[in-house]
Amino acid sequence: DQACEVHFTRQDRYRDRPRLEDVVAAETGLGLVDGAAGRLVLRGYDLDDLADWSFEAVLALLWTGLTPTAMTEADIRRELGAARGHVFLRAERLLPVTDGLAPVEAMRFLLSSLTDAERIPHHILAVAAAPVFAAAIARRAAGQSPVAPDASLGQSADFLHMLHGELPGEDRARALDSYLVTVADHGLNASTFAARVIASTRAGLFSSVVGGLCALKGPLHGGAPGPVLDMLDAIGTEANIRPWIAATLARGERLMGFGHRIYRVRDPRADVLKGVVGTLRDSAARIAFAEAVEAEALAQLAEKKPLRPLETNVEFYTALVLEALGFPRDSFTNVFAVGRMAGWTAHVLEQEAQGRLIRPQSRYVGPMPERATAAG
Ligand code: ACO
Repeated sequence: DQACEVHFTRQDRYRDRPRLEDVVAAETGLGLVDGAAGRLVLRGYDLDDLADWSFEAVLALLWTGLTPTAMTEADIRRELGAARGHVFLRAERLLPVTDGLAPVEAMRFLLSSLTDAERIPHHILAVAAAPVFAAAIARRAAGQSPVAPDASLGQSADFLHMLHGELPGEDRARALDSYLVTVADHGLNASTFAARVIASTRAGLFSSVVGGLCALKGPLHGGAPGPVLDMLDAIGTEANIRPWIAATLARGERLMGFGHRIYRVRDPRADVLKGVVGTLRDSAARIAFAEAVEAEALAQLAEKKPLRPLETNVEFYTALVLEALGFPRDSFTNVFAVGRMAGWTAHVLEQEAQGRLIRPQSRYVGPMPERATAAG
């Protein structure tokens, strides 16, 4: 009938409308993502200049002016070390409850155990807890007991220590530092936006970052790097690259590690991480194969989607870095969360300081009550 027709016509038109694309939904002093130029700036520094900073130094950069007391890199390193020890006891106690859960769901559960009543500053505790939980979850899945943190280590070295049960070489700790720094913050991505929306209701920092993790979990956001390795494994051989990609695109499926909502050129983080993989031992053959897949994927995407520039995103080389560092692939999203916790906490602090509830509107495209329709 006519009412239905009007309804569906409206809905179809609405479906074509972008979902907050190009809408500015927050003002931030934290970072700039320039999608046209392929540039990422965090508080006045280009990503390329930050790549050899420690994770703690980047936390100091992001948190400056947002926390009640100013903290240096050394302060943050010390406080994170102490907070990791504090939260480890909780990880040990709660871990059995997570049996049978996917690693990211176990992470969501453990992060949810942090409450508004915690005495350690919440931004410190959230950042410290993430690697403790992620390492303990990965070990438990492998049938191993959790390894207690070492407060004298930096966050990255201790993360690898808690994962593998031995002190990592300096090159490996540095590689993980570069990864965590590279993904620390990235504008108003879906998980950061989710965290800011929750923070704007004054629900507190832990609720906000749990919300961030829930958004990160999806395969269109932080769930992609595990599937990137699945893709490389499924392709298997050089000879299979071209037909595998062609068949995947012909089925209308997406290639993991390609495309981005903001970047229309290559994601600047991809090359930083490609450089990081190159510093790790025994990775040459893996990189060469990944490069061949990447080149063919880009060629076929350009041919198939000439109107939509699709380039390599951060997840493609993330997969190789995390694989080389010995993280199980089903824990990659949790490792991403360890890095992005920096950005989530900074954005939550910034949002709390700004203080206004984020409350957009929706356009109603459903039917109106009979009487109102007749009247209107
Ligand atoms: N492979 C194949 N085709 C793709 C891909 C891809 N990776 N990405 C986008 N497309 C196509 C879509 O099918 C669509 O084609 P159509 O217009 O013919 O229907 C067109 O490009 C536009 O796609 P959208 O979905 O509108 O792009 P959007 O900006 O919403 O998506 C996203 C961005 C989600 C990252 C997408 O590129 C994707 O799914 N990539 C694969 C998953 C991935 O790598 N995610 C990690 C992103 S990085 C991060 O979050 C940290």
